[in-house]
Amino acid sequence: MSVKKAKKSAIQLIKGMKDILPDDQQYWQWLRDRVDNFAKNYGFGRLDTPIVEFTPLFKRSVGEDTDIVSKEMYSFVTEGGDKLSLRPENTAGVVRAYIEHGMVNLPQPVKLFYIGQQFRHDKPQAGRYRQFWQFGFEAIGETDPVIDAQMVIISHNFLKGLGLDVEVQINSVGDANCRPQYLKALKGYYQNHRKELCSDCQDRFNKNTLRLLDCKNAKCQELANSAPQMVDHLCESCKEHFMGVLEYLDELDIAYNLNAKIVRGLDYYTKTAWEIVETSEAGKLQSLGGGGRYDDLVETLGGRPTPAVGFAIGLERVILKLQENKITPPASKPLEVFVAQLGLEARKKSMSLFEDLRREGFQVAEAMSKKGLKDQLELASKKGVRYVVILGQKEIADGTVLIRDMESCVQEVVDFRKIKLELRKRLDSESVRLIKVKKKAQ
Ligand code: HAM
Repeated sequence: MSVKKAKKSAIQLIKGMKDILPDDQQYWQWLRDRVDNFAKNYGFGRLDTPIVEFTPLFKRSVGEDTDIVSKEMYSFVTEGGDKLSLRPENTAGVVRAYIEHGMVNLPQPVKLFYIGQQFRHDKPQAGRYRQFWQFGFEAIGETDPVIDAQMVIISHNFLKGLGLDVEVQINSVGDANCRPQYLKALKGYYQNHRKELCSDCQDRFNKNTLRLLDCKNAKCQELANSAPQMVDHLCESCKEHFMGVLEYLDELDIAYNLNAKIVRGLDYYTKTAWEIVETSEAGKLQSLGGGGRYDDLVETLGGRPTPAVGFAIGLERVILKLQENKITPPASKPLEVFVAQLGLEARKKSMSLFEDLRREGFQVAEAMSKKGLKDQLELASKKGVRYVVILGQKEIADGTVLIRDMESCVQEVVDFRKIKLELRKRLDSESVRLIKVKKKAQ
């Protein structure tokens, strides 16, 4: 009796999450290399914090009434009763680590960077995912506006240098000294327009008045355009600090727009706040990154009062914009040699030849599971490899290999012991030829 197996349904990717396929990896590698390079130039050390933290870390830092904490966090209770959350952002974890590892005793500012996944249960759409990657730079322990300016410059130049059209939108959100008076003025203004606000903003009116300014609803935007501005309510020290930041940006010719509606979606900001928006598509501005000063956060999380400033950039969004603008990563070193084999003995020998060539620094490729030479040559050609080393029964018996030039299709018999020398000779004369062609073209 035959038993019919029920067809199992395929398990799918979780909504809002994304596989990063091999074809896209070149973009990711490009950005990761660039992050490492910027970090080295500007003197930032890498810090990796866990993806999961105690929930109160985010409640206290990002703020209980923010959308991120109140609506978007992946939170759970462990069997042992611990309340944990997947991190929705990385600054809180960095500050926790700064305090926990006594980094306050190091020369200040302590300059740290990270690159990792964040989780927000947001409405998925283009450039908005539930698991996404950010890299961020944080400078902890310095009040001078030069550091704010430097962070703005790093975030701007990182994106600009990729070939994207970007602009800095900057504001000051004041501090504990001047913000309460401003919030009073803001509330007073919105009090008269309460009925015109969207339902989310009705809710924000009491809980998070500042966020009324960056609601995306058309009517709320219109109201925000006429709302009182924080810059007109800054205390002397915040004003002086902000002017200082802008002076450095002017000096370096960084294109920025003063934007009173930049208030950011996290509660920890004080003074400088900015976003980097892409401007190439008229009317479709998307924020690729954002940051700001957070002078009270170290103390809020249990450390000594310590000023700090930082930013984060979303990698998916940057890659999306690069692809939209047809900007491709620089070509990586091309494959130079393909090792092809025919027959069991030849396959064994070609496996060790492959390892030997790889160790010697050749950019080498193979397809050991393929048996036919035709298939292997086709693959080598598809991969754009210039030279194929062919090893068959006859070559093993003779102690030779064939080197096939895929461009001219000429095959030459070479002594197995001289294979590296012969390959290097051919590759070197090819690179000299390419340099000459390039020079002629200039
Ligand atoms: P944020 O503005 O919430 O700031 O996020 C920074 C960037 O992360 C955004 O500009 C965007 O590119 C990316 N991003 C945010 N949410 C999503 C999402 N759902 N899907 C895809 N990308 C997203 C922060 O997270 C702060 N910790 C930045 C900071 C560092 N401030 C000071 N230091």
